[in-house]
Amino acid sequence: MKKVVISTGGGDAPGLNAVIYAVVHACYRRGWEVYGSRSGYGGFLDIDEMVRLTLRDVEGIYAIGGTILGSTNKGNPFAKPVENLAGEVQVVDISEKIMRNYRRLGFDCHIVIGGDGSLEIAHRFSQLGMNVIGVPKTIDNDLMITDRTFGFDTAVSTATNALDKLHSTAKSHDRVMVVEVMGRDSGWIALYSGISGGADVILIPEIPFDLDIVCQKIADNELRDKQYAIVVVAEGAAAKGGQVISKGRGEMGREEVVLGGVGEWVATEIRERIEKDTRSLVLGHLQRGGSPTTFDRLLSLRFGTAAVRLVEEGTYGHMVALSSSRMISVPLSDAIKGRKKVDLASDKILTARDIGICFGD
Ligand code: F6P
Repeated sequence: MKKVVISTGGGDAPGLNAVIYAVVHACYRRGWEVYGSRSGYGGFLDIDEMVRLTLRDVEGIYAIGGTILGSTNKGNPFAKPVENLAGEVQVVDISEKIMRNYRRLGFDCHIVIGGDGSLEIAHRFSQLGMNVIGVPKTIDNDLMITDRTFGFDTAVSTATNALDKLHSTAKSHDRVMVVEVMGRDSGWIALYSGISGGADVILIPEIPFDLDIVCQKIADNELRDKQYAIVVVAEGAAAKGGQVISKGRGEMGREEVVLGGVGEWVATEIRERIEKDTRSLVLGHLQRGGSPTTFDRLLSLRFGTAAVRLVEEGTYGHMVALSSSRMISVPLSDAIKGRKKVDLASDKILTARDIGICFGD
């Protein structure tokens, strides 16, 4: 009999609950016990936050967005800001306490569902002796090694639906609509939704853009009597030569781009340069919400059960991954080595260029 604990970390993504559903079912089939740590590592710090998960608890949750394990974004236990009695904030390392309680509670393995930040933390715990298995999650699809992360397909579908709707209003007013989608470091959502949603321009972090070229593309539309345009911008896209974007502190204390700005900036520039009526909108967290698509449900269920098979084999310190439609496992240390960027030679980029989409380069 094994005792497994599962937690969810970082931003939510459609499919989190489906992974939990799969883990609980696969563990029960093997006669194992499963617990859920609420609020990330909360269950290792407060026993009331460590909940036994039964088949009844997870009934039907594979189709529901969010996570039944509560708030996901609870920071880094290796550098946690804590307020002392004088009201001053100090950064403390609570990892030893978590390790003590992991051992005291008698867990055989901790399945961590998370993005790069959470998997980096999981890797550090695995180096301290925790048996960890990672499940790759982020709507941004920018985790190394795995072909896909769950949540991405749903986010792309949400963004594509939004673009479909924006066409009619843009056309009715001869406007340029600039739509900012998520993607801090990579342009996966912008690329996939932009191609599928009939964008004229797609701006992604992997291709620094020139606004004169973007404006030229919009002006060229008019030559063929198309008076409106749809511009999709990934939140991490930047102009050639370095447009200034403010930075903030991320989950692991790194500097990261603060969201929500580049779309508005691009819209203002287009308005000023070619005097087109222009509007911008930020799709934001809409992309993280709602029920997972069939693809994401299936992927999440496959990831969850594959994680349990790794527990059975005793392959710890690994992450499950999708590779050429197969489930594989890779060392966590490899999975956290960087961010997966859009391959500029891929057929998606070629498809976009061939159907006339401009990347501003
Ligand atoms: O889940 C990844 C992501 O969606 C990024 O694209 C975005 O930058 C970030 O999360 C925003 O998260 P939050 O507002 O929850 O910090």
